[in-house]
Amino acid sequence: MSSRFHLDAPQKVKDLLRELHRLSLDQEAQLAAKKDKAVDNRFVSTDILLQSRDRDGKETSSEKESKSFEDFVRDKFIALDEDKAEFMYQLIRAMGATKVIEAGTSFGVSTIYLALAVAENKKRYGGTGDGKHKPGVIATEKESSKAVKAREYWAECGPEIEGEIELREGDLLETLSRDVDQGVDLLLLDIWTPLALPTLKLVQPKLRPGAVVLTDNTQRAAEGYTELLEYFGGFQSGFSSVTLPYSGGFEMTVYNPK
Ligand SMILES: C[S@@+](CC[C@H](N)C(=O)[O-])C[C@H]1O[C@@H](n2cnc3c(N)ncnc32)[C@H](O)[C@@H]1O
Repeated sequence: MSSRFHLDAPQKVKDLLRELHRLSLDQEAQLAAKKDKAVDNRFVSTDILLQSRDRDGKETSSEKESKSFEDFVRDKFIALDEDKAEFMYQLIRAMGATKVIEAGTSFGVSTIYLALAVAENKKRYGGTGDGKHKPGVIATEKESSKAVKAREYWAECGPEIEGEIELREGDLLETLSRDVDQGVDLLLLDIWTPLALPTLKLVQPKLRPGAVVLTDNTQRAAEGYTELLEYFGGFQSGFSSVTLPYSGGFEMTVYNPK
């Protein structure tokens, strides 16, 4: 795919994004080199973890493997690919979106694109309308060390970006279960596959008609996404979904409830 992409951002933010994508890709090359099935496909790994727990809740060997995966990825970016992030930015600008939720933030690379797009939209179309500032992006991360790093990167970007992000630390199934306003324009599902459908169901009542759900890696991790994709395709689900031909597949789903 060719691109003449234009990101409305200060040069220092563009430079930081380039560096963060480079670091993330370097780490992914290390992940791939591990040649462990559980490590090869990050999204399948947690499925293995969940499926491997036996009825008594005792640890099985594949669960141990998956735990070592969890330890291994604890300090890894696993950032959304740059071309997908650019597409996401374009889409948010086109939608005029000002309320966005990110499921899975890690070191906050994709979050920077979300905040940049939302900040531009607010400048053009206005914010809450009551003159009060409210961050337009709800980010979620359960690893506190990742949250610390993400905040550092956002601070480097400057107050415009930093001020547009509310980071909710902890398990997103808890942190997104309260204080989410109606009228969410876009949900990014960049999370382990077993969490994708529960997260969608949690946020769905808050989605506005015409809202978009973006889901990463729906082809490469198709097995892990079976239930989510069936849910999208269900009779009168209100969802209409296409898989965009980015690496591993990038699902764009529009919500128009009947
Ligand atoms: C693929 S990474 C997100 C990458 C990020 N969107 C980016 O582009 O930079 C997924 C993240 O979800 C986090 N995560 C996993 N389970 C979670 C949960 N239950 N609640 C919140 N975050 C979770 C992981 O720690 C990991 O950092």
